[in-house]
Amino acid sequence: MATMTLNGAEIEVEAGRPLVEVIKEQGVRITNLCYIDGLAPYAGCRTCIVEIEGGRPGPLQLSCTAVASDGMVVNTEKPEVKRARQQVMSLIMANHPDRCLTCHRRVHCQPGEICLRDDVVTHRCLTCSKNYRCELQTSTELIDMGEFEEPWVGEDRSYYETPPPDPDRANPFLEFDPQMCIICTRCVRACADLRHTGAISLSGKGPSTMIAFGTGGAIHESNCDFCGACIDVCPTATLMEKPNKWVALAEEWTNSACNGCSVGCTISYGTRDGRPVIVRPDRLNPTSRDQICVRGRFHYDSVTDGQRLSRSLARRGDRLLPVTPEEAMDEAASALAAVKAEHGADAVAVLGSPLATNEEAALLTRLAREVIGTPHLDHVGGPVHRAVAAAFTEALGSDRLTSTYADIEHADTIVVVGGDIEESHQVISLRVKDAVVKRGAKLVLISSRWGELVDFAEVWLQPAPGHEALTAQQLAHSVDAAAGEPATPEGVDADALARACALIADRKPAPPSDDNGASEERPTFAVVFAPDPFSVEPAAQQARATANLAIAALGGRAAMGLHYLPTDGNTLGLADMGLQPGDGGRSFHEIIEGAREGSIRALLIHDDNPLLSATGTADVRAALEAVDALVVVDSVRSTAAEHANVVLAELPFFAKNGTITSGDRRITRQRPAAEPRRDEREGVAILTALANALGGEFAYENAADVMAEAAERVEGYTRYEGLMPSRTRALGEMTAARTQYQPVAAPAAADNGLRLITGRSLYTSWEASSIHSEDADKLHREEDALINPRDAEPLGIRMGDDLVLAAGDAEVRITARLDDGVAPGTVYVPAWYDGGAVMALFPLGGSADGTAAVQVRALQPA
Ligand code: SF4
Ligand code: SF4
Ligand code: SF4
Ligand code: SF4
Ligand code: FES
Repeated sequence: MATMTLNGAEIEVEAGRPLVEVIKEQGVRITNLCYIDGLAPYAGCRTCIVEIEGGRPGPLQLSCTAVASDGMVVNTEKPEVKRARQQVMSLIMANHPDRCLTCHRRVHCQPGEICLRDDVVTHRCLTCSKNYRCELQTSTELIDMGEFEEPWVGEDRSYYETPPPDPDRANPFLEFDPQMCIICTRCVRACADLRHTGAISLSGKGPSTMIAFGTGGAIHESNCDFCGACIDVCPTATLMEKPNKWVALAEEWTNSACNGCSVGCTISYGTRDGRPVIVRPDRLNPTSRDQICVRGRFHYDSVTDGQRLSRSLARRGDRLLPVTPEEAMDEAASALAAVKAEHGADAVAVLGSPLATNEEAALLTRLAREVIGTPHLDHVGGPVHRAVAAAFTEALGSDRLTSTYADIEHADTIVVVGGDIEESHQVISLRVKDAVVKRGAKLVLISSRWGELVDFAEVWLQPAPGHEALTAQQLAHSVDAAAGEPATPEGVDADALARACALIADRKPAPPSDDNGASEERPTFAVVFAPDPFSVEPAAQQARATANLAIAALGGRAAMGLHYLPTDGNTLGLADMGLQPGDGGRSFHEIIEGAREGSIRALLIHDDNPLLSATGTADVRAALEAVDALVVVDSVRSTAAEHANVVLAELPFFAKNGTITSGDRRITRQRPAAEPRRDEREGVAILTALANALGGEFAYENAADVMAEAAERVEGYTRYEGLMPSRTRALGEMTAARTQYQPVAAPAAADNGLRLITGRSLYTSWEASSIHSEDADKLHREEDALINPRDAEPLGIRMGDDLVLAAGDAEVRITARLDDGVAPGTVYVPAWYDGGAVMALFPLGGSADGTAAVQVRALQPA
């Protein structure tokens, strides 16, 4: 620690900390236009000048390059210090369209007056989209730029002498208006150092210096993935969110959580007029901290208010027409009750969704089990999750892994097993990159197709699809022969496998632990595992192999180093709340089969769309068409809802109150960031009303009541009063560690011919895809089939050709993209392309290796 004096006050600070951060932490406001907290200083703007008494070569120093030390005496407010800052700011403003900001008369002017320049007076930048939320604006105020003589008196102002460069408004997420840029390079450093993407650089020289994306073209042609980290740090209107750009002056901020994947990043919604208009990361979650991905930042806007379901609907003939909420509720309850009365409760099935909250899942579970009395309760991803959970329980004694995602970036050796976690779970991919770039961690990547993590991997093992588990098991066996020797995985290069094994053999030794695996220290080895999202068997094998690898490398501490990434947001919360088949209950696939053959006669679907999320579309559609009663609760009129008897209009996810449980068991709060419109009601209110209309006696007023009750019976959960959002983990009592190796089976040999693979992609919105919106992928980056050039050539397929992919009676039309990132013999199509069209080419429940045999041909031009 050090004792220093700041503006006359003595303070205790950590020696060596950047002075600018110390100053801000003391509540002293200081301009620092090029500094990003936590990153190395750039020292380009010079607006952070302070006086350091006795400083060398002189007292005026940059507080971003100076560090706190014992005995230091710092002044930020002396007139000469302020004057120095005004001078450097005037240079910045000389090339900025600052309008009234620096006018020396602005303090005399009142809003509405006409000034000497014959313009309406404002001390703000009324024609700028960043007005009232701009750091440059507040910086000029902080140092009273209006006091300072206009810097351009007697000179030409470069801003008005230089034609402004063109803005880039060509993508749906990020607007770039370079005339506003002050070349602080924060964006360059955020993209390079916080995101490891490097999409932005400085180009040009002298007065023509600009920031540029990629090779200087449009943003969407660069490798930018629209995470928005650069927007967060840009102190001007240069980089801004395109959605709601001109209205995103938030009236309120609401802390919440993203449910776009199981990372559970915390976010804040800025709201205006009762709707969210902007999203910022919220640092509550130790995994995501100040970073999120394009889904968390922009998917609140993927479906317009007009496309949302603000009225409840009921079937009238072959049409769904708006009815009052009371009518809709009556009809929903009557339809379900009629089936139960005629065919028994066993003829009713209930489907939930990992997009829903824990409270909704708990209610839906009670509604199904206690009120309707059916054990047939599941969700589309239930079978895959249960297969993974069963493998973990067999291996480790519990599927409640004690590992925390925040530890990944501190591991020295990391093995990632999955499709492309850069797309499916981007913030975890970011933390893996952090470990590699900042700490020199070694990464072994097991994935059948290229993803951005390949560039960060020491070794990329590219097995044939379906052979990921065998590949991971090879690594486990190399560490401990007792793990069991598997069959040789197809497609894996023997040298690469040997290098990966050597790398793992060289891993840092784990710190000692007690018999139960307990240790305060983080494991130095991490296995990060994102299962096949659609096929049960490969997911189960992958879970066994990754658990084996964690046991082989970490022994009794395996559960601390094994990181499970369920595909969907609240997968773990659903399981914890009991949303799964009861005794004798049918799983999702069995429910669909039952509905097709007539033993399931009524379906209640909450927040999901199995026509989008589930493989075997023809079977799912037949099931939805066959049932006597289909009741859907949703915030959009999904393609599944089109088959419904009744659709109950629910609030969208950003308007919900409740909790979700991340893949590392953090309980995070979702708080409402929008007002209900028309018939929209909370899911909790709808499910309570439906239960009571069916004869239940639910007395919940709100989500807090539901959780208060759930916390009594579900281990690890707590009432809201006792919850530390994103910190409380749903772990419960720790069981003694168990380490049990399990055999890993080889998938059945695939037929010759092309194999189709799919996965969760980054940009396409689940909600927009669920209503089959043409704009589900607003960027149109995920609308191609990736085919290896070696396969394309003999089929006469060229880049950009229209293709037909066919399996059985199902066909998908899509454009060809030749890409050697997919293994030869495979074609990759993003899962949510064209409303989940590719799901029709897979059998219900997926396949033994996660692939589907597919015929591919180019469409001949008409
Ligand atoms: S970027 Fe900031 S300072 Fe510049 S015109 Fe806009 S609001 Fe004003
Ligand atoms: S949005 Fe993200 S990836 Fe794109 S330039 Fe900004 S920081 Fe880089
Ligand atoms: S775009 Fe923004 S963050 Fe980047 S250099 Fe310009 S002003 Fe700074
Ligand atoms: S990584 Fe997942 S939870 Fe985080 S912002 Fe992206 S989609 Fe949301
Ligand atoms: S913040 Fe110190 S020079 Fe820019």
